Amino acid sequence: APDATPSRTYGNLSDEDRVFTNLYGKHDYRLAGALKRGDWYKTKEIILKGDTWIIDEMKTSGLRGRGGAGFPSGLKWSFMNKPGGPDGRPRYLVVNADEGEPGTCKDREIMRHDPHKLVEGCLVAGRAMNANAAYIYIRGEFYNEASNLQEAINEAYKAGLIGKNACGSGYDFDVYVHRGAGAYICGEETSLIESIEGKQGKPRLKPPFPADVGLFGCPTTVANVETVAVAPTILRRGGSWFAGLGRARNSGTKLFCISGHVNKPCTVEEEMSIPLRDLIEKHCGGIRGGWDNLLGIIPGGSSVPVLPKKMCEEVLMDFDSLRDAQSGLGTAAVIVMDKSTDIVKAISRLSYFYQHESCGQCTPCREGTGWLANMMSRFETGNAKMAEIDMIEELSRQIEGHTICALGDAAAWPVQGLIRHFRPEIERKIEAFHANRKLSAQA
Ligand code: NAI
Ligand code: SF4
Repeated sequence: APDATPSRTYGNLSDEDRVFTNLYGKHDYRLAGALKRGDWYKTKEIILKGDTWIIDEMKTSGLRGRGGAGFPSGLKWSFMNKPGGPDGRPRYLVVNADEGEPGTCKDREIMRHDPHKLVEGCLVAGRAMNANAAYIYIRGEFYNEASNLQEAINEAYKAGLIGKNACGSGYDFDVYVHRGAGAYICGEETSLIESIEGKQGKPRLKPPFPADVGLFGCPTTVANVETVAVAPTILRRGGSWFAGLGRARNSGTKLFCISGHVNKPCTVEEEMSIPLRDLIEKHCGGIRGGWDNLLGIIPGGSSVPVLPKKMCEEVLMDFDSLRDAQSGLGTAAVIVMDKSTDIVKAISRLSYFYQHESCGQCTPCREGTGWLANMMSRFETGNAKMAEIDMIEELSRQIEGHTICALGDAAAWPVQGLIRHFRPEIERKIEAFHANRKLSAQA
């Protein structure tokens, strides 16, 4: 459906509509502080309203997964309740707290400052799916956040909020923390499941999706920290409150992590669909050296294509606007690069990252990421042929869509974005390299 209010401007989120960041740095992450802020309020009533009510409310909210893919959350949770009822297998909620996407640090903030929102979110999301337990898979580097989270879980057990007869609702629900060991690929949902099961973190083919065959062979939903942590507030305030923020199909509030060449890098909660330029001007004190000094921005974590300055003027920070701009909202990690940046070198560094993090089990990714990294490192110095620009583009198309998991696409898209918008930069480097070589030969 078209946007009902196309002329509205987005991005004036009031403090009372903020779920998270208006509180950062000013509060105690423990239960006493969480209760004061309204966490765990009427949770028992929410649980007693049952799975269908919770899922309908989530559908009304329009919440789309905050891990990067943007799959509608209410729909995804509903996959766990198949017609015909339970088949005897336990069901699990798995929370993806691996947060490995370069530039992304939003889930860390939630676990650092608001761990009770996540624990409460596990309970209500778990109830919606009729799950017996939640496993929170947290990246190993988040040592302090894992400790905060474990402390919050211990407090919640002690207060009777989770465990047997959670919140006095008659519903039993356990929450476990599982620490990862630093592999980017373990953020991919099936790889994460393998890792919890004690195996090497290598993605599985989908289908079957985890909702059919997931953790320990049981129905499982893997959901991102922000998605789960925002759920209790949505259920308390109502799905239509959340749906009233942002554009149609892009509703709600969102955490944005802005890094790079801005005056004040930060993680901030704003209304979805805020214009990218407003986000930077309002919360980060603008670009270093002023807006005219901007070169380009990666708007959604390292897996999405970079946008040149011209496109950053108009684009809105939501799934649809960024898709139309041939980029993506991804994890909403905004990486800003001013004119001092060597954009070829920056993207080349990402190619090296994906080569390093490929699990190696499928050929287009294992071989292709190596080729991308190799060619990009030569583009960096200019030691390449002009024809190789088209060749690397073609190579990236052979990787995209031909791999088991999204890492292949993630390696291909930044290179495609570079060629689409900054091809003259690569050509300039190649020309300069060959001109210098000629001069050296003549000397
Ligand atoms: P996806 O589109 O394959 O799946 C999204 C979710 O919907 C999954 O949970 C999947 O199981 C579910 N789903 C999709 N179709 C379904 C169906 N027909 N039946 C049942 N369930 C279905 O995307 P994926 O691979 O999970 O995520 C890719 C994104 O992850 C990228 O766009 C990237 O932005 C993001 N990412 C985030 C990172 C982070 O640190 N948060 C790290 C790396 C990537
Ligand atoms: Fe592994 Fe890459 Fe294949 Fe994903 S795309 S399964 S990371 S080899």
